[in-house]
Amino acid sequence: MARPVLRTVLCDMLGIEYPVILAGMGPVAGGIDGPVATADLVAAVSNAGGLGVIGGAGYGPERLREEIQRVRSMTKKPFGVDLLLPSNFMGGAASGEIPANPRDLVPAESRAKVRKLAEDMGLQWFEAPPAAAPAPRPRAGQGMSDGQMEVVIEEKVPVFASGLGSPAAWMDRLKANGTKVICLVGNVKNAKRVAASGADIVVAQGTEAGGHTGRIATMALIPQVIDAVTPVPVVAAGGIADGRGLAAALALGAIGVWCGTAFLVAKEANQPGTQKARVLAAADEDTRITKMYSGKTMRNINNPMIEAWEAAGIQPMPMGLQGLLIEDLVYTCRKNGREDLLMNAAGQISGMLTTERSAADILNGMVSQAADIIANRLPKAVPATTGV
Ligand SMILES: Cc1cc2nc3c(=O)[nH]c(=O)nc-3n(C[C@H](O)[C@H](O)[C@H](O)COP(=O)(O)O)c2cc1C
Repeated sequence: MARPVLRTVLCDMLGIEYPVILAGMGPVAGGIDGPVATADLVAAVSNAGGLGVIGGAGYGPERLREEIQRVRSMTKKPFGVDLLLPSNFMGGAASGEIPANPRDLVPAESRAKVRKLAEDMGLQWFEAPPAAAPAPRPRAGQGMSDGQMEVVIEEKVPVFASGLGSPAAWMDRLKANGTKVICLVGNVKNAKRVAASGADIVVAQGTEAGGHTGRIATMALIPQVIDAVTPVPVVAAGGIADGRGLAAALALGAIGVWCGTAFLVAKEANQPGTQKARVLAAADEDTRITKMYSGKTMRNINNPMIEAWEAAGIQPMPMGLQGLLIEDLVYTCRKNGREDLLMNAAGQISGMLTTERSAADILNGMVSQAADIIANRLPKAVPATTGV
């Protein structure tokens, strides 16, 4: 069968066939298995005609370099790296004295509340040995991703995406390498900020999205961001997982889509089996936003631990410190065999996803359905019913 044709200006900007970008999804389930978007998923999407993006937030600098090289060995097509650049990493603690045990940055009172939470749920409490601790460690005077950004620049990756915060400090060096810079935002204010800093593409991500997310829904956000940042082009994200979503995003004026949850259930996704099964089984109302896992608002498949955390009213800590606060809790859940209580970031569109498929299949299905809709080749709408 002939390959569908669906081109937008995004394809020319990034050198890709279809206007679909794999979101650079980082780790779930406490982080020990690495990011969801590893080289296997990234290369599969790029080879199928989209843009694969490594979820670099799950890697230290040298491990990130290896993954970039692994992608290069699996595809000759363009790809990207996504990193998180929070401005308030460790609540500023990393710019001061760092204690020998970084967990001492977290108040003992908060740690006690977290322990009580676990014990009230009948879990036996364990303290994580340092080697089992996946939370990012504070480094004096450094932000969360400073070391990884140097690797992105040294490796001259074709596309860089910042999932949080602004890459303004690195913009000149990225541009000098010819790297295209993509910035994710969830509101108009941040869209204007990253556009002014030189972003090539703004991804406007609605609250429906899995992972870190804002308060504005995709349908309302996209046109407002477009109006605010034109002529900088906008890509849509949040709740898009088939050709209907892709066609709708283009109709709103976006030049393409950035999809996470759709590829979270791909065969090539590095997502623990029990967590993938939960996403496939989820219905539309099964996700909930919580600050429990990272300190920032994040949409997850809901679970009893999220419910208990929200009911307890424990004050979340800034990104980085929150990871240190819940480190023992994550370890405790694992030791008690309760993977169902761990972070399982996923979006509201999970309710539509019922089967695991290859990334190429997901991408091709999305593109051909959108091409059909745009060419008005779908069957006519359901015939009018009588007697209702
Ligand atoms: C499991 C998971 C992990 C994610 N990790 C990251 C990340 O590390 N960096 C990032 O920029 N976005 C991350 N996101 C958000 C995605 O980039 C994307 O914006 C979102 O998935 C889009 O909405 P959708 O899930 O409805 O497709 C993650 C999303 C999921 C579902």
